[in-house]
Amino acid sequence: MPIMAEVIEQIEGMLPAARTDLAAVTSMDQLEQFRIKWLGAKGLVKISMKLLGQVPKEQKPLLGQKLNATDKQINEAYEQKKQSLSQQTDSDRDYVDVTEPGKPPRLGNKHILMKVVDELTDLFGRMGFAIATGPEVEDEFHNFVALNIPESHPARDPLDNFYLENEKGSGFRVQGSVAQAGAPSTEPRTLNPEPSLRLLRTQTSTVQIRVMETTKPPIRVVIPGRVYRPDTHDATHLSMFHQLEALVVDKDVTMVDLKSTVMQFIHAYFGPNTRARFRPSFFPFTEPSAEVDVWFEDKQRWVELGGCGMVHPNVFKACNIDPETYSGWAFGFGIERIAMRKYGIDDIRHFVENDVRFLQQF
Ligand code: DAH
Repeated sequence: MPIMAEVIEQIEGMLPAARTDLAAVTSMDQLEQFRIKWLGAKGLVKISMKLLGQVPKEQKPLLGQKLNATDKQINEAYEQKKQSLSQQTDSDRDYVDVTEPGKPPRLGNKHILMKVVDELTDLFGRMGFAIATGPEVEDEFHNFVALNIPESHPARDPLDNFYLENEKGSGFRVQGSVAQAGAPSTEPRTLNPEPSLRLLRTQTSTVQIRVMETTKPPIRVVIPGRVYRPDTHDATHLSMFHQLEALVVDKDVTMVDLKSTVMQFIHAYFGPNTRARFRPSFFPFTEPSAEVDVWFEDKQRWVELGGCGMVHPNVFKACNIDPETYSGWAFGFGIERIAMRKYGIDDIRHFVENDVRFLQQF
């Protein structure tokens, strides 16, 4: 049986001893050690509680009270320390060591298609072409009528176009067929008061019209831009893609100018030995018309870059340019195709999938 005075002494000594221990604690790890030593299931406080069982019955309440009070005080001291330590670690965390080497930010880069657009407009810039742009939401006049595509033409089928529902534009429908044979009218076009339907342009040829409406010949422009068609996506088709359009209008412009400019472009951009060919074709807005193919070495086959031709007299008339005085040529090439040929890209979907591994290569 422990001697009463000894037990009291032991209990009274606990709090100062615990305080001394606690004062030496400087980290959460040490605090945990402290907790185990004093407050844990096998800690000093619990051991003392057991000793209590051995003291005479009548002394138990007094000693029990003392012990409970000690337990409570050690617990409070522990909680206080815990709080002050955690505040300290929070402010440690806010501390920035400005001498530490930084994490370099990941730099993005221009999209390959936009780089190709820059390369193309630079190249044509050196050949004397200015750059023109136009809206992607168009009216039927610029997308069809002025390009000599009549109402009945299959190109105007709603299944082949993204018409905007209930979106009547500020442009007006043109009465009848604008460009009838005969001298160009100097009168303003006859407009039907019903506003035209709007649609996402299917070709950058729309901008040929916008340029000719606002600029007097001589004209020499390239027009890069997005176009939209309801195509099913596969390795060579997207419902949104880019075209590079060109338009030259001047006196005495011939098909020789068209062919030599296109060949110069192909040889300058893809390399002097690149094989290309012109195939006779049809477009409502050119006469004669041709398609241009480039030989894809990696695919071992011809791939069509796009169409071209001599501007149709009806197109000039729609823009109040006299086809007896002026002639011109135009082309519209697919920029994705050009980029694929130049950089050996095998699937058009890579351009829009946003895979950093693809984008970083360029
Ligand atoms: N706009 C035509 C298309 O998207 C391409 C084209 C053909 C453009 C002949 C032209 C051209 O400027 O003269 O299929």
